[in-house]
Amino acid sequence: MLKKLAEAIRKKPMIGWMIFLASMVVVFLLGLLAASITERRAEIATIVANRIDNIEPMDPRSENYKNNFRREYDTWKKTQDMDFRSKYLGNQVEDVLESRPEMVVLWAGYAFSKDYKAPRGHMHAIVDNRNSLRTGTPEAEGDGPQPAACWVCKSPDVPRIMHEQGIEGFYSHKWGDLGAEIVNPIGCATCHDSETMNLKVSQPALIEAFQAMGKNIEDATPQEMRTLVCAQCHVEYYFNGDQKVVTFPWKEGMTVEDMEKYYDEIGFTDWTHSLSKAPMLKAQHPDYEVFLLGTHAQRGLSCADCHMPYKSEGGIKYSDHQIVSPLKNVANTCQVCHRDSEENLIKYVYDIQDKSNEIRNRIETELSKAHIMAKAAWDNGATDKEMEKTLQLLRQAQWRWDFSVATHGGSFHAPIEIQRIMAHSLDRSLQAQIEVQKVLFAHGVTDVPMPDISTKSKAQKYIGLDIEAEQAKKDKWIETVVPKWLEEAKAKGKLVAEK
Ligand code: HEC
Ligand code: HEC
Ligand code: HEC
Ligand code: HEC
Repeated sequence: MLKKLAEAIRKKPMIGWMIFLASMVVVFLLGLLAASITERRAEIATIVANRIDNIEPMDPRSENYKNNFRREYDTWKKTQDMDFRSKYLGNQVEDVLESRPEMVVLWAGYAFSKDYKAPRGHMHAIVDNRNSLRTGTPEAEGDGPQPAACWVCKSPDVPRIMHEQGIEGFYSHKWGDLGAEIVNPIGCATCHDSETMNLKVSQPALIEAFQAMGKNIEDATPQEMRTLVCAQCHVEYYFNGDQKVVTFPWKEGMTVEDMEKYYDEIGFTDWTHSLSKAPMLKAQHPDYEVFLLGTHAQRGLSCADCHMPYKSEGGIKYSDHQIVSPLKNVANTCQVCHRDSEENLIKYVYDIQDKSNEIRNRIETELSKAHIMAKAAWDNGATDKEMEKTLQLLRQAQWRWDFSVATHGGSFHAPIEIQRIMAHSLDRSLQAQIEVQKVLFAHGVTDVPMPDISTKSKAQKYIGLDIEAEQAKKDKWIETVVPKWLEEAKAKGKLVAEK
């Protein structure tokens, strides 16, 4: 057989070369396979070796991830820091109603008129939610005022409970009922599969919103996932039906007008304004929807590109988990892509924020005035029919104002869109004044005196709130009820005390 082959090769040397080449290809492929196996083995080995602790599926206690992922854990923990302030934002406590008291009037009749602080780092999410006057002082099972839905954007304990009790089971509770269960702030399990550490959407409302738009969130690319994990919470949503299920109003689209259309079609109102009686909408924080309309999203950037930049430590590249204003760290954020000085880049952000705020401040003055004028019209005998147009304009003006201010980074994320929305809000605020002026004239009123709402407490007194009494009750509740929640959570192992 070999002799025959040698004969054949002598006659036709081509055959020899072909056998040689074929063997080389086989050797090369085997080499590749071996290399890939070794590499994969090495990868798995590193992962296994690095996994000092076994983590339970969906474990909401971020402390349990600490030994396995030290860099991510340490930077995540820094979201509790309160060390940065830019011109308008930052990670410190800021009482917004104190600096812009007209907002008390804009939200009259709604819990936001009692208490509204600027957002700070994720580590504070639970404490800030508990301590807000908006969540009240529930003591017994079933006490209000708020539904379980108010926990949804605060904790990885929420998907855990949804998993244990079903989504409906979760929503069947009042907020206070879950005080001893929801104790871990936004953490690893909010954004990651705890076994593979792949990015994961744990918020059913986002998955359902994609379905309602005829899309499948599973088709998202890895780069899109770096935005979608944030879109679990930094979006517009409402509490749907008696069960108060968190729902994203995206069926008609994601612009301010599309979502208004959705709410109008289902006849939704968050509350009736206590001065003007307008059927109001409260915008949440449509950061994701607004971001999509800006230059950076359209060039394919994700939230993580600016809010979780890569850092290096000992040659190891990792994502900075201290989610904060990118201006805290321009060298690792903007300057990765822009060859411009830190000073110029910061100035750019401040300039557009200044310009947006010029319009914003005008709206807050004119829109609060329009609500007060509407109250005067009612006080002087206006009828529902006469007020119809005014109330509709107030609803539309305030939806647009709230939408643009509640997306805290919006004036940078999509400057033209935010300024467009605010222009329409100011326009409708002034139209509302013109409409209500007609009603006032018809009832013989030529002048509406404006109350003194120059401070938060004056404005709250004007709309009839007794904040001192509410605050005293809340303070006592924080001292008596919250420690019991924490004690129970610790006893059940739901909360890992660090030391
Ligand atoms: C708000 C969402 C969010 C939270 C909370 C979060 N991560 Fe991440 N994590 C991300 C994103 C986004 C990335 C980047 C992933 C990518 O680029 O594919 C990431 C990347 C990682 C990676 C891959 C390596 C790296 O650094 O890029 C690890 C490991 C990780 N996170 C661990 C953790 C741990 C541990 C916690 C809790 C202490 C945590 N993460 C909390 C969003 C989050
Ligand atoms: C589970 C809901 C949830 C998810 C997911 C989430 N956030 Fe947040 N985020 C919040 C809440 C709630 C606050 C306000 C916390 C407070 O003030 O106590 C906040 C605050 C912030 C702040 C303000 C921090 C500061 O220092 O002022 C930024 C910036 C932010 N988030 C960006 C992101 C980005 C980027 C992602 C995705 C990588 C993300 N968030 C994912 C709920 C979430
Ligand atoms: C991952 C890369 C990346 C990062 C990080 C980044 N940018 Fe950009 N930026 C871009 C791209 C791409 C464009 C579009 C440029 C173009 O099309 O010419 C852009 C556009 C801009 C523009 C022009 C805006 C416009 O409307 O055309 C400004 C200003 C800007 N970025 C500022 C910033 C600032 C400030 C930061 C940090 C907070 C930042 N960028 C972070 C990539 C980045
Ligand atoms: C190109 C960079 C860039 C990208 C991408 C980006 N942001 Fe921002 N974001 C900023 C800047 C700049 C600010 C304003 C910070 C300041 O004024 O201190 C900001 C502000 C914010 C704030 C308010 C922070 C505070 O302290 O109150 C939130 C929340 C936020 N962004 C969330 C997001 C989310 C969610 C995404 C993705 C949907 C995103 N950002 C994408 C640059 C970016």
